[in-house]
Amino acid sequence: MIRLDGYLCTCKGLTRSEAKKLIKEKRVSINDSIVSDPSCKVNDDDTVKLDGEILIFEEYVYIILNKPSGYVTARTDSKNPTVMDLIGEKRKDLSPVGRLDIDTEGILLITDNGKLNHNMLSPSKHVDKCYLVRCAHEVSDEDIDHLKNGVDIGDDKPTLPAKCERSDDNILLTIQEGRYHQVKRMLAATGNEVVYLKRLSFGPLSLDDSLNLGEYRKLNKEELESLKEYL
Ligand code: URA
Repeated sequence: MIRLDGYLCTCKGLTRSEAKKLIKEKRVSINDSIVSDPSCKVNDDDTVKLDGEILIFEEYVYIILNKPSGYVTARTDSKNPTVMDLIGEKRKDLSPVGRLDIDTEGILLITDNGKLNHNMLSPSKHVDKCYLVRCAHEVSDEDIDHLKNGVDIGDDKPTLPAKCERSDDNILLTIQEGRYHQVKRMLAATGNEVVYLKRLSFGPLSLDDSLNLGEYRKLNKEELESLKEYL
């Protein structure tokens, strides 16, 4: 059970006072009866409508974005546009799960589920992140072995073992950690330089053809199911 004004806030990304105003204006119904009391309780099987449109209650929002270059992975930034500027969802607690650099493209998960956010970033969960990496110079077989085995990027410990394979002129590098600028620093440790970086997958989630750069969508049922172990 949840209060009607809270229900409206969650469904429509409204402030409590905006929700109360709509209710007072008699624009909200529960099971086709107009309700004017914001504290009225909504049960799981009730149908709530705003201006005749059925509202769908989702406790959390899960969004997958194909991040373009030029956007900062943050909620706000004083200098550059942020990934949140690309998202039409107004819910207040949405945050990106982890970070991509401003010039990195690719899959970014955005949610208001703090537990999932925490779990997917926890080193103990070993979440795979696969990157398409284009380098300034040729990557030798030795470099690939080196990247696979772990490299010294100037931290206390070398990077953990990773997967690395060629894909046309690029490499696909799958890491389980999320250190600062990790991929760029790993390639720098082999004397190379990353000129293009795109994240193709994040845990069980992968980019697909449905999203052009800058586009986003809510996760579908199968994708949500695949995140179960992090919930
Ligand atoms: N590693 C990087 O160097 N940059 C990213 O954006 C992600 C991983």
